[in-house]
Amino acid sequence: MKILVVGASGVVGKAVVANLSQRHHVLQASRSQSPFKVDMTSPTSIRALYEEVGSVDAVVAATGHVKFAPLENMSDADYRIGLNDKLMGQVNLVVLGIPYVASGGSFTLTSGILTDEPILGGTSASMVNGALESFTRAAAIELPRGLRINIVNATVLEEALGRYGEFFAGIEAAPGHRVALAYQRSVEGRQTGQVYYVR
Ligand SMILES: NC(=O)c1ccc[n+]([C@@H]2O[C@H](COP(=O)([O-])OP(=O)(O)OC[C@H]3O[C@@H](n4cnc5c(N)ncnc54)[C@H](OP(=O)(O)O)[C@@H]3O)[C@@H](O)[C@H]2O)c1
Repeated sequence: MKILVVGASGVVGKAVVANLSQRHHVLQASRSQSPFKVDMTSPTSIRALYEEVGSVDAVVAATGHVKFAPLENMSDADYRIGLNDKLMGQVNLVVLGIPYVASGGSFTLTSGILTDEPILGGTSASMVNGALESFTRAAAIELPRGLRINIVNATVLEEALGRYGEFFAGIEAAPGHRVALAYQRSVEGRQTGQVYYVR
């Protein structure tokens, strides 16, 4: 399969690329560190990425920035960071990508454990993750030509503990290669509208 992975240079994206590239032709995209460049906050940039890569069999989004801060300090602008980047970036990647994904192909999005397990400073992350999971279930019944969509809700990766470990006290991490299996299941399987949990 020809698979577009956005966020390929990140902690999650690297694990996904390591898995999928064993069996597929993977096109790696991200904001600045990958061969294909895209800014997920810009629909124009997402359109240009699809024009550049052309038809694909699957699209994986392993990206999404949100603001972490105490609830009382969160401003309207702070929430809009997550809405514009993690939420609408992935939503636009799906909606704008429909004409470019081959019949029976798939979209795989990324939420995370904060949908279900709130942490201090994580209101934006939890909110956006929940919205993405609801979008996935709803889009699954409308996508044309047998296109599929699933989302991966993973715990913190072992490879990210250095960066995020203190926020996830007492939450068990998973190695990237195990998280990547959920993306593989979505891309290579036949299910749609699923939230794949990795704990
Ligand atoms: N890390 C974890 O433990 C974990 C666990 C569960 C879920 N998640 C979720 O997985 C997603 C990725 O997390 P991560 O830890 O892998 O992040 P990361 O290591 O910071 O990597 C982020 C990736 O997204 C790209 N990116 C950032 N902003 C972008 C933009 N505006 N347009 C296009 N690409 C952009 C980066 O590209 P450049 O390198 O080119 O800048 C990089 O490839 C997030 O939604 C996160 O919530 C992470």
